[in-house]
Amino acid sequence: ATTPRIFSGIQPSGHLTLGNYLGALRRFVERQEEGIATVYCLVDLHAITVWQDPEALRSQTREAAAAFMAAGIDPARSILFNQSQVPAHAELGWLLNCVARMGWMNRMTQFKEKGGKNAEKVSLGLYAYPALMAADILAYHTTHVPVGEDQKQHVELTRDIAAKFNHDYGVEFFPLPEPVIEGPATRVMSLRDGTKKMSKSDPSDMSRINLTDDADTIAQKFRKARTDAEPLPGSMAALTDRPEARNLVNIYAALSGETQDAVLSRFEGKGFGDFKPALADVAVATLAPISARMSEFLADPAEIDRILGQGAARAEQISAPIVARTREIMGM
Ligand code: ADP
Ligand code: NA
Repeated sequence: ATTPRIFSGIQPSGHLTLGNYLGALRRFVERQEEGIATVYCLVDLHAITVWQDPEALRSQTREAAAAFMAAGIDPARSILFNQSQVPAHAELGWLLNCVARMGWMNRMTQFKEKGGKNAEKVSLGLYAYPALMAADILAYHTTHVPVGEDQKQHVELTRDIAAKFNHDYGVEFFPLPEPVIEGPATRVMSLRDGTKKMSKSDPSDMSRINLTDDADTIAQKFRKARTDAEPLPGSMAALTDRPEARNLVNIYAALSGETQDAVLSRFEGKGFGDFKPALADVAVATLAPISARMSEFLADPAEIDRILGQGAARAEQISAPIVARTREIMGM
């Protein structure tokens, strides 16, 4: 059997959000604590599929690295690095572009969501993004990919690409990775629109909680979060048609470690005037220490760069031979 190895990534395309923390970072730390080999990547090559100001990208990359470490990623135990520093990603990305099919890409929803009415104007990179993500994962012979619900489709495509490669070349080379999506808040929704996910790339800062937001900002964003005027029911089953309310209860439960129904049993009959300040308190309790540690790391950018450089060297040791072998299998 293949040795278990975890790979996952986050785009340094803005401030990391509470959605990134609950759906990704917190789980990344749990996997690290289980003693499995963990490889975590700041995927800047993905970030540039939409316009990034160069100076902003540089500082967001350091900020994302600080967020990982502040959340509990230990660069001595996990490999933490920056995608563009390890050539395997771009190289295997091209090789897999030649395995993936146009029809598969057409079924992916992300370039449509990000392109909106302007689908013809998105970059070719945004369209090909899922094949690069497959390369990120397969370059490490990854077996498990912890992600939020929103990325499940991409991990399934990665399996299709790996299976087609193995089949076309008659090899058992790439293991088929499993998505790991579990627990509450694998999909945290926008505070302004309960049908959209909370995202660092949403134009409205009020739609999300950033890991760097201070206590007052967090309280204000929850206070202004869109909700209805109904009181809270005693169980989640009664919230089916109330996406905004469901989202806030989900966030509360994910932060406090309770079930959603346990949270609701305490707030049954109460309105959002009571619930929102309580939610802000549990969010601040989790985020204030993280944001304080982030500030400490960010005070020494050269040290962050050094850590990312060491991570890149370790990532290259694993991925370079795998990509070299891929080339060889393909006849190059
Ligand atoms: P973003 O949409 O904020 O740019 P990324 O695409 O960089 O986030 O995703 C990084 C990780 O964070 C992925 O594992 C993704 O599933 C997770 N993630 C992003 N947004 C959310 C969310 N709203 N809820 C849960 N997980 C999320
Ligand atoms: Na994204």
